Amino acid sequence: MKDVIDLDYALAAELIEDIKDDPMGDWFDLPSRFPHYELEKIQEVAARVQKTSDYLVCIGIGGSYLGARAVYEALDLGSTAKCKLLFAGNSMSSRELKKVLKTIDGKDFSINVISKSGTTLEPAIAFRILKKALIDKYGKEEAAKRIIATTDPETGALHDEAKANDYETFDVPLGIGGRYSVLTPVGLFPLAVAGADIDKLLEGARHCKDTQLYDLENSMLISYAFSRFYLYDECGCDVEVLASFEPSLLYFNEWWKQLFGESEGKNKQGIFPASVIYSTDLHSLGQYMQDGRRNIFETFLKFSPEKDPLKIPKVASSDGLEYLENKPMTEVSEKALEATLKAHEAGGISTFTIEVLDPEAENGISELSLGFLIFFFETACAISALLHGVDPFNQPGVERYKKEMFKLLGK
Ligand code: PA5
Repeated sequence: MKDVIDLDYALAAELIEDIKDDPMGDWFDLPSRFPHYELEKIQEVAARVQKTSDYLVCIGIGGSYLGARAVYEALDLGSTAKCKLLFAGNSMSSRELKKVLKTIDGKDFSINVISKSGTTLEPAIAFRILKKALIDKYGKEEAAKRIIATTDPETGALHDEAKANDYETFDVPLGIGGRYSVLTPVGLFPLAVAGADIDKLLEGARHCKDTQLYDLENSMLISYAFSRFYLYDECGCDVEVLASFEPSLLYFNEWWKQLFGESEGKNKQGIFPASVIYSTDLHSLGQYMQDGRRNIFETFLKFSPEKDPLKIPKVASSDGLEYLENKPMTEVSEKALEATLKAHEAGGISTFTIEVLDPEAENGISELSLGFLIFFFETACAISALLHGVDPFNQPGVERYKKEMFKLLGK
């Protein structure tokens, strides 16, 4: 950010203690204390699913879905996975569910149904439909062996069904809410099935905690959390746009929007989280970003460059691109990012750049860098919500539409 503001480090330290002490703050220490037996169980069950299934259908919505999808897409695991992931139960669309049924037709599949409450309508409908498909294909007994339920360890409809039918289960820890749960079995199990290095995801989170919360005065995380609140409170910037130059981060953006939207948007206040993928969106929202209402600030994500990027070839053309011949596409993309930053700052937009470097990463984006970013944003989000004076871990507002809907559906 261009303007330097005075940060209250004593307050930052206090807020971190508040997060640790919150009954829903268990995600904060989990990466450093993840039970070894739980990690072993995740790997064991994942290996079994890989052996028996071409697809694992992950049923869940919101925080029970977006984290796994964000990492799956960002790492492009679908191109290498022995057992690919499909995502269902994240909308009310029959058409979307038909697509999933079509993909698994004639293939071997298992189901990971993920719902802490066990009563959320979208995943519950999808689970019914997919469970029927599983039973039709394998029979009741074998179907039960192909269902893995990730849910509340003590109560709830899904917990009860899992117990009654002897499904394999993983716990959503009681002290962790959906949108802070990607680094629990909610995200780690499906990602292990898809071949992600889940130890590295946890290592990335630990690295963030160790480097960003050890010396608060030099912490990018604290600076980000406090500066975004300052921009909102003092400068009238009530929209934050998360920007990157990598289309595979589309679902990372979705995860981030859910995290901040559900955590901060309360009591008629909060920063509206939006996102763009450049350079694609420079050709759609670019005009607004440059020249529209100045109630926006922008947060850029930057990763290590890919090790073996495509180069722009020398080939007879009339496109006038001779000046780019033999240059890697990553270099062009980096210059585009630099240029966008300059242009938007000149247009009056405050910007942050969060750079996550993993020199080992073949593709620039790695488990280590994503684990780091997940913990970075979870912690920054919880601090920001506390600065707004709201509870980062509840979501009373999402109950209202459900009440209206259940009335209309005659529940
Ligand atoms: O972040 C949250 O708490 C929510 O997004 C929930 O994860 C989402 O509503 C799904 O809830 P459940 O896991 O109970 O089905």
